[in-house]
Amino acid sequence: MKIAIILFSPGGNTLKVAEKIKQFAPNNFCVQLLDITGREEIFTRKQGTRFLEETVTDHDLLLIGSPVYAHHIQYHVQDLIRQLPRPDRKWGELAAAFVTFGDISSGIALNEANRLLEKSGRKIIGGLKVTAEHSLTRLLDSPINNGKPGHEIDEIILNFWEKIIARLNKDINVRELKNNMNYQPKKDRVKAHIIFREKLWQKFLYPKISIDPEKCTLCGCCVTKCPVNHLQIINQSLCELKTSDCITCGNCVVNCPQKAMMMTGNIDKFAEMVQQYRAGKSKIASNEFPKNQCF
Ligand SMILES: Cc1cc2nc3c(=O)[nH]c(=O)nc-3n(C[C@H](O)[C@H](O)[C@H](O)COP(=O)(O)O)c2cc1C
Repeated sequence: MKIAIILFSPGGNTLKVAEKIKQFAPNNFCVQLLDITGREEIFTRKQGTRFLEETVTDHDLLLIGSPVYAHHIQYHVQDLIRQLPRPDRKWGELAAAFVTFGDISSGIALNEANRLLEKSGRKIIGGLKVTAEHSLTRLLDSPINNGKPGHEIDEIILNFWEKIIARLNKDINVRELKNNMNYQPKKDRVKAHIIFREKLWQKFLYPKISIDPEKCTLCGCCVTKCPVNHLQIINQSLCELKTSDCITCGNCVVNCPQKAMMMTGNIDKFAEMVQQYRAGKSKIASNEFPKNQCF
């Protein structure tokens, strides 16, 4: 059995899960792991389909990994699924998505991935969600879920494989499976569609990065850590490129040795939201249980 795992992981959590999926795959499975984070072909040259066609090797099962951003799968992963070639002799017909989220809500991410994968001609045979460190809270004194995921997810990954293996070459009730992944109450699903709109939030609500040219030594750390190639050093100055928008992952801020990168804007409001979440009074968190779950 050949497996292709394609993932996007700005903060590294989704990559950790993908690596565990690869590690716990049965010995006779051949697994290709493709991390698209920071790939020029996708974010600079915008040649997603060509890149996928040239890079992904033939497989029976495709696994797609994404972080949850604003209750959805991150929009670059949505785009990636839309760019997938239709199943054929090289591109397998079976698919499953896995997502990591920062404990607040996994929203409708799995639903959304399933819908897009089905639209691409694939059959859904499973799904996985894992709670992890909230990457944006790395900017605060104590991040939510600091250090996760770790060994606590080993069992769920093994369960995920058991379920997938049991469904290979079998007729399964895909509708029932998808219904199980439709676990959010209707009001939360409606909110995800109407209120949590990632691109709008990036534009108007999320904090913005700002560069202090006095402190910046042009070391290039932020350039290499930016998952969407939004930053570039041009003519001895650090620039934000309009060709690839910032997705507010916070990598540039947490990795800048000179502390020249900052987040400005609604940081206080964000910190307040995190406090409300910790006090169990969050208006945006769902009562999701269990947080780690495979389908
Ligand atoms: C802009 C942004 C939006 C996020 N939105 C959510 C969210 O809606 N719900 C949640 O639980 N976590 C949210 N998170 C946290 C990420 O889903 C979580 O940290 C994830 O594991 C990041 O994966 P990565 O390390 O692979 O990038 C958000 C993080 C960022 C940066």
